[in-house]
Amino acid sequence: MGELTPYQTGPALTQAMLTQHGVALEWQDGEQTTLPLLWLRDHCACHACRHPQTRERLYLPLEAISEPPTVALLDGHLHLNWQDGHVSAFHSGWLYQRRPEASLTSAVPNAKPWVDNFAPERINHSDFLTPQGEKAWLTAMLRDGLALITDGPLVEEEVSRLAERIGPLRATNFGARFDVRSKPNPNNAAYTAVGLPLHIDLPNWCQPPDIQLLYCLQNEASGGESLFADGARVVEALRQQDPAALAILSETPIDFRFQDETHDISMRAPVITLDSAGNLVEMRLNNWIRDALHLPVEQMDAWYSAYALLWKLFHSEAHQLEFSLRPGQMIAFDNRRVLHGRREFDPNSGARHLQGTYLDRDMLASRLRVLARNV
Ligand code: OGA
Ligand code: ZN
Ligand code: ZN
Repeated sequence: MGELTPYQTGPALTQAMLTQHGVALEWQDGEQTTLPLLWLRDHCACHACRHPQTRERLYLPLEAISEPPTVALLDGHLHLNWQDGHVSAFHSGWLYQRRPEASLTSAVPNAKPWVDNFAPERINHSDFLTPQGEKAWLTAMLRDGLALITDGPLVEEEVSRLAERIGPLRATNFGARFDVRSKPNPNNAAYTAVGLPLHIDLPNWCQPPDIQLLYCLQNEASGGESLFADGARVVEALRQQDPAALAILSETPIDFRFQDETHDISMRAPVITLDSAGNLVEMRLNNWIRDALHLPVEQMDAWYSAYALLWKLFHSEAHQLEFSLRPGQMIAFDNRRVLHGRREFDPNSGARHLQGTYLDRDMLASRLRVLARNV
């Protein structure tokens, strides 16, 4: 069927019959459906209808089927002989997976907001290098938006090597891989020793990076603890406490902007984006690269007070996770969902050095689907 995800184990077809609505099917387990003729023609997997190497669709379904095919069950397949001479064969397990009555299953978990006492999944570095460990990491990342790798080697660029197992590094104006430490002439608050309140990186981009990985090489300075809070959870808390504030923050686009000698990257978008069901699509909270507030004057006070409430909820003890990264640990998080920050540190008390990079969420989901093929 030109399909890499397994489908062969589904129940066999026991009946196939032409009706006025299409082809009525029944499987061994009693499940039934009726598939319209055009749907069946559209999904033909022969080499003329689906490219044998790329597996991509070649057939274009622009014309209704005027004459019904003849229908037969043979060798676990539904065979259709169309009136123009074309022949289609569908594996019964493949059809079973795609019957309209089945709920779509996926190897990729849905996002699940953190609950009280949430603790991130911890995966040993050597386990991450195995399919099971990688799968556990990917699952936690997509479900919780945060996962910790422990006991990794203290070598430069390990963050890039780990990230490249998943997908190509997402480069930004700070490079494909960045060093987080206090630097002379910093162009970003992260490259100082100041505390960073909770934020997402790069909300000034039309598409901020999805996944951030921070690999700790040195953390001897006093202070510098890492902070995290789940946007999915905090948005729910805001909805409970003040739905009008949630409406303001999710319906009012504001400006974000980063500027240095070579860049001026700017984006207008709300702090919270929700989907039509009210679920969080993305957060854009980063107070130091928020640009001038350009709103009708009569909306400003209400916006500031909604912003203050959201800020308090994020920084409340109930919602914040705090711990020190140890050298050899890598924290990864969904930058568009889970906010991160750090406590101030004293650069004179010891070295602090993280290396970071970004990945696309699509690549995490893709790896998980590929790993799920072999179960
Ligand atoms: C960053 C950042 C956190 C840290 O580099 O974007 O937020 O712990 N760093 O230094
Ligand atoms: Zn065909
Ligand atoms: Zn950051």
